[in-house]
Amino acid sequence: MTDLAINGGIPYRDTNGSPFPQRTPYGEREIELVTEAIRSQSLFRFGGGMVPEFETRFAEMYGVDFAIGSTSGTAALHVAMGAINPNPGDEVITGPITDMGTIIPILFQNAIPVFADTNPDTYTMDPEDVERLITPRTRAIIAIHLFGNSCDMNAIMEIAEKHKIPVIEDCSQSHLATYENRLVGTIGDIGCFSFQQSKHMSTGDGGMTVTSNPDYAETMRLFADKGYNRGNAEGHRMYRFLGINYRMTELHAAVGLAQLDKVQNTVSRRRCLGDRLSATISGCPGVIPAPVTPGGTHSYWLYPLRVVGPTADKFAKALSAEGIAASAGYIGKPIFRCAAPLAEKLTYGDSSFPFDSPYTDRNITYSEDLCPVTQEILDQLVVISFNENYTDGDIDDIGGAIQKVAAAISA
Ligand SMILES: Cc1ncc(COP(=O)(O)O)c(C=O)c1O
Repeated sequence: MTDLAINGGIPYRDTNGSPFPQRTPYGEREIELVTEAIRSQSLFRFGGGMVPEFETRFAEMYGVDFAIGSTSGTAALHVAMGAINPNPGDEVITGPITDMGTIIPILFQNAIPVFADTNPDTYTMDPEDVERLITPRTRAIIAIHLFGNSCDMNAIMEIAEKHKIPVIEDCSQSHLATYENRLVGTIGDIGCFSFQQSKHMSTGDGGMTVTSNPDYAETMRLFADKGYNRGNAEGHRMYRFLGINYRMTELHAAVGLAQLDKVQNTVSRRRCLGDRLSATISGCPGVIPAPVTPGGTHSYWLYPLRVVGPTADKFAKALSAEGIAASAGYIGKPIFRCAAPLAEKLTYGDSSFPFDSPYTDRNITYSEDLCPVTQEILDQLVVISFNENYTDGDIDDIGGAIQKVAAAISA
């Protein structure tokens, strides 16, 4: 049997002689539009034309009525929470495998995050657990489409409709992924996107919130602009409620407009490559390829490989030695154990608000064993990065290296 590179064998891929391609998300069109924005002498969204154009074209691409640009995916989710407008101590059900950007907006609106465990077949939130967690204080469900893979949206929407709870879709990792031929972000009440550097389309940082609900749209526009009612007829400034400044600038919209022309190709290419990798490694001992939720198409922000038997850490180290960029565990622990604002309730001075407050009688503890399936999956995950510039041959090398490591470890 071929020796593993980690034990002194020859790496499957010689990344010195044959490096994997880098991402090259930006090009001449971005430069042209940014230059145009600067030449216009107005980089403020009220006055320039690019932010409104970006919002309109994004809404058109998704087939929704409204899109509100902002400064990050976290901001986009906060804008959505602004529309939900929970009372302190209200609860929002979400998933535990995510970035802190999903959780921060819940806490900043003084609501309590409640975590549904993970479906082991999709790595997204388990709808049965969502329903179990609903209480009279539940104000929203945030469904996270993880790594590019859709949640089981039929089940989630059925539960939400039954209990009359709005659904926010966190599509930060899943641009143009679909579920039953509908784009994720357009199935629930509100969809949120991140344009952070690593995402399928990027403005370095940036975000977008979409909806077809005019009341939500109106509130979200105001929320992202300090609650400032710019059309106030009374002749003085009017701030209608507590909002924040998440206004997107013309520079970000200039890049975003250029990115809109590329994102379809980026996602198609990633989809081909991800599906190719899954086909290459199917049947490989002890390795579970990236799941695709039934009815969905994946957009592969990252490729989540699951290993059963060896630890994810051992597998990832062996794979890295073979020349394949791999890391164990994604976030390592469920988000409520990674984040002191949850694990230690470190919020708002030393108040622990809203957890320890008269606004809730619920004594939530974000303990290690809260979501056992989630921890098991994180313990077995190896995430592999690739990008749309990879060739089929690059993917075949990744697949070959996975087979080599799996065979050696299982032997
Ligand atoms: C699932 C998810 N939600 C929210 C965010 C926050 O996005 P941003 O970093 O743009 O604020 C991210 C970022 O990676 C994410 O992956």
